[in-house]
Amino acid sequence: MNDAIRPQPGILDIALYEGGKAHVAGVQNVVKLSSNENPFGASDRAKEAFLRTVHSLHRYPSTDHAPLRAAIGEVHGLDPDRIICGVGSDEIITFLCQAYAGPKDEVVFTEHGFLMYRISALAVGATPVEVQERERTTDVDASLAACNRRTKLVFIANPNNPTGTMISMAEIERLANGLPKQAILVLDGAYAEYVDGYDGGAALAGSRPNVFMTRTFSKIYGLGGLRIGWGYGPREIVDVLNRIRGPFNLSTTQLDAAEAAVRDQDWVTKCRNENARMRHWLAEALAELGVPSDTSMANFVLARFASDEEAAACDAFLQAQGLIVRRVAGYKLPHCLRITVGDEASCRRVAHAVAQFKGSK
Ligand SMILES: Cc1ncc(COP(=O)(O)O)c(C=O)c1O
Repeated sequence: MNDAIRPQPGILDIALYEGGKAHVAGVQNVVKLSSNENPFGASDRAKEAFLRTVHSLHRYPSTDHAPLRAAIGEVHGLDPDRIICGVGSDEIITFLCQAYAGPKDEVVFTEHGFLMYRISALAVGATPVEVQERERTTDVDASLAACNRRTKLVFIANPNNPTGTMISMAEIERLANGLPKQAILVLDGAYAEYVDGYDGGAALAGSRPNVFMTRTFSKIYGLGGLRIGWGYGPREIVDVLNRIRGPFNLSTTQLDAAEAAVRDQDWVTKCRNENARMRHWLAEALAELGVPSDTSMANFVLARFASDEEAAACDAFLQAQGLIVRRVAGYKLPHCLRITVGDEASCRRVAHAVAQFKGSK
């Protein structure tokens, strides 16, 4: 390679994102609990809409996503003009960094925050700033103390991945109130639908000039394979992000499936209720085996082991039985395993396998 050809500063500092494993060598019929996917899949209405798009594959998709934005607006009571849709919420995070941060700017996120915040900040040459959490929970005072005149974006996932913990809206408001005036608070609501009665920060993003919310169809909607997310916030920010959005960033298939999915709120309610039931069951079962976890508000449980070695050994034990969970050493939690809440049979299999592992020691 020619020495004169170099990527932009920051890019070589990016550690490649590792997704959840999907296979174990030599093991058939694995149960994948490593990517916080909905074990029940997408709603039938979303699947039917997906299939119908086969007849229009030769047509370019809509560039303004108007029908999907209208559907999201109707369901959530939001102004569609203040919604932007992207290739997963990952793309919205990317747009925010591209539009608002660059060299010498700082992007703040929490110690165990979602990895894409760091990656997207480095990709634009900005400086990632990581803030300590308190007992695996966002610490508003520490986040405010980390801000200065270079801070452009502050990302908070609520509930957070991989901890599953959440802070109150009063705490979020305190954070929004205390930020320097050039900084945007981004509330990542990838798991918001799992919290009964929580708006993901929509009301705040609707009323403050410095708050933006991101959401996804990858989790409760069961459309992770299709890649659709959206953002909502001040009109000025949406206008800025639309300028850098590719005109055809979403396919007709993505748009139509997402529209049908968001209109099927009965499916969302059913999945939320079943997740809450099995999450409670799984957390209790693990606790009884001496594996504690923080109260999770999302579709996974962060199981804490006595040591890094015990977590690694339990992971290997589970894998040998075809149960794939997520090691989270990359999130600075090497003594933990993140276990997606599966259907009842999968949760029972995991609890049974952890019991065997504990008994075998
Ligand atoms: C906190 C959080 N934000 C955003 C995302 C990105 O989701 P997607 O790009 O699939 O919408 C994820 C996915 O795991 C996540 O956990």
